[in-house]
Amino acid sequence: MKFADLRGILQYVPQFRGAVFVIAVDGEVVASEYFLGLLLDIAVLDSLSVKVVLVHGASHQIRALSTARGVPITSSDGLGLTDAVTLEISEEAINLLDSHILQQLTAVDLRGAVGTWLEAHPAGIIKGRDLEHTGTVEKVDARGLQAILANEMIPVVSPIGYDGQGGVLRLNSDAAALAVAIAMKAQKIIYVTAAGLKNADGSRLPALSIEEAKKLATTLDPKSDLATISALSNAARACASGIARVHIVNGLDGEVLLDELFSNEGVGTMIYADEYQQIRPAEVYDIPAMMSMIRQSVADDEILPRTRREMKAALGDYFLLETDGNPVGVVAVHHYPEHKLAELACLYIRNSHENSGHGRKLVAFAEKKARERGAERILALSTQAWRYFEQKCGFKSAPASILPPVRRQKLLASGRNSKVMVKSLV
Ligand SMILES: CC(C)(COP(=O)(O)OP(=O)(O)OC[C@H]1O[C@@H](n2cnc3c(N)ncnc32)[C@H](O)[C@@H]1OP(=O)(O)O)[C@@H](O)C(=O)NCCC(=O)NCCS
Repeated sequence: MKFADLRGILQYVPQFRGAVFVIAVDGEVVASEYFLGLLLDIAVLDSLSVKVVLVHGASHQIRALSTARGVPITSSDGLGLTDAVTLEISEEAINLLDSHILQQLTAVDLRGAVGTWLEAHPAGIIKGRDLEHTGTVEKVDARGLQAILANEMIPVVSPIGYDGQGGVLRLNSDAAALAVAIAMKAQKIIYVTAAGLKNADGSRLPALSIEEAKKLATTLDPKSDLATISALSNAARACASGIARVHIVNGLDGEVLLDELFSNEGVGTMIYADEYQQIRPAEVYDIPAMMSMIRQSVADDEILPRTRREMKAALGDYFLLETDGNPVGVVAVHHYPEHKLAELACLYIRNSHENSGHGRKLVAFAEKKARERGAERILALSTQAWRYFEQKCGFKSAPASILPPVRRQKLLASGRNSKVMVKSLV
């Protein structure tokens, strides 16, 4: 690990300290060679005072046990019909899995505890079919889970619910994770799946709004993609229920957990709630986050370098775009009132959030701010995004002579040879 990586991680520490993260792991990931790495990542989170609740699926193990025994089952995922035989196989597979997870936790110096934290009732008759021993979470024993966390142990939540009359019901683990997260007021749910999400062309799918996640779930085939549909629909529900951040990662891609949480771009898909999006003035405590956001663009010569001191001196000009309370973009509007002119600068959108209209939103916001201060034109200096300003934001190329003398001089001195783009605001 490089020092820069460590610094990158440390900037999140105050934000994460004491927060509850629910990590929902697919049974196939638990069975994979990557599970121990995932637990090591959880150990890192634990050392940073993050309170982790581990919820696990068991479909993979239930199917394997059914095959090994030669006993057919009605469903393995806690979504379809669970008959008495399937319940018996499921219970046995889940008990073995619980024990395996507890053992593996000790391998990374963590202690786990399994308990009866989920009260459930039968899922009932869905579309005319009685799902028998399939259950729906009714209540989560949040106090019980808190007590385990307070004892510095990791609660291991199995996809089994108790009906309060001595009976058990098979639950879907993604839905269980959602119920636990809501009850524990979790800051995050991370669904560690065995497939992850991709665009149709195989490229990464960095972010989805709630609506997009729901829509995507309806386009997938329940026969082949049921696990993804389940993760997506519960992730969308979690986000709509106010869980600030919901992530879906592919646990079979290697060590993904810390990469998703501590890198700016992440490696999986983040589901976000549009209604939590806002543009707000930057505060002094935002400066490190803003510097870190624009660092790569400055290195790539897309954005003019600026020091912390310069940023602080002009702090009133800087604005942040947040989704779910996390900064994803920045823009500055510098004013030249004597020229009835404003300059849009330092426009940056995190890679993970590009191509969602955030850039245009910030440009429109900057134009509004400029107008409010009496500017008749807004300009932007750009080395690599001038076409963006032209094609997506209605700016036109202009000669450097339109710049206020002090700005023209700064441009000449920088040697960056930026293109000057301008837009009329009247
Ligand atoms: C330029 C930037 C702000 C765009 O943000 P964004 O939120 O992804 O932009 P939007 O979602 O509003 O627009 C996306 C569209 O712009 C296009 N686009 C993005 N960057 C572009 C560029 N440099 N040149 C031309 N088009 C570009 C995308 O292809 C996409 O096109 P489509 O709508 O036809 O699919 C972002 O890519 C960024 O931060 N770049 C690095 C920093 C930078 O260059 N800043 C400008 C210096 S002032």
